[in-house]
Amino acid sequence: MHIDILTVLPDLLTSPFEHSIMKRAQDKGLLTVKVHQLRQWAVNEYGQIDDYQYGGGAGMVMMCEPLANAIEQLSKDRKYDEIIYLTPDGERLNQKIANSLSLKGNLLMICGHYKGIDERIRQQYVTKEISIGDYVLSGGELAAAVLVDSIGRLLPGVLGDETSALTDSFQDNLLAPPVYTRPVDFRGHKVPDVLMSGDHKKIDNWRYEQSVQRTKDRRPDLLED
Ligand code: 6GU
Repeated sequence: MHIDILTVLPDLLTSPFEHSIMKRAQDKGLLTVKVHQLRQWAVNEYGQIDDYQYGGGAGMVMMCEPLANAIEQLSKDRKYDEIIYLTPDGERLNQKIANSLSLKGNLLMICGHYKGIDERIRQQYVTKEISIGDYVLSGGELAAAVLVDSIGRLLPGVLGDETSALTDSFQDNLLAPPVYTRPVDFRGHKVPDVLMSGDHKKIDNWRYEQSVQRTKDRRPDLLED
């Protein structure tokens, strides 16, 4: 999979992909992420990419031309399966969306700033609008990092058996069960006996029951879908 990201703050998007599983995905050649400074397509020598909004009101709007020119230039090199705008008024990201995006080949992500991007870019170029939750971030960059991570770890071959995405929370609309490691007795708090029984069928059943209970307690909404 190849992901291009358009942003005015490319530095915010270096470290998130240089570690752990995102690094492994790229080292294995399963994922390439390229971050592009939107100001390359600025309308003047001052690097301007935003302007006052028509109708008045506080806050700048990201202009059409830089975005349109950037999208058109990048689209010459690859055919995008989705052009995604990260925005608080987009569809709320969940595991199902991450799963479906992980099946694509080329994605372009646009990080908004200020009051957002001109509506005409949304209408003419953007194919998907995603929010990462019901709160406001200063820009789309951290949201793009979250989205790339949630997709990248699902690409076949990125996770080994030991970290299989199949046992993650949400993969079956259930939260993950509790996990334990050494020592068996931590200051009087013991690991549940079942996990040391060696009976894998019993362990699987216990984990499933714990998942269901945890989901009922914490996220009953997940059980309604
Ligand atoms: Cl995608 N962008 C911004 N600026 N804020 C958000 C968001 C995105 N998702 C949740 N809050």
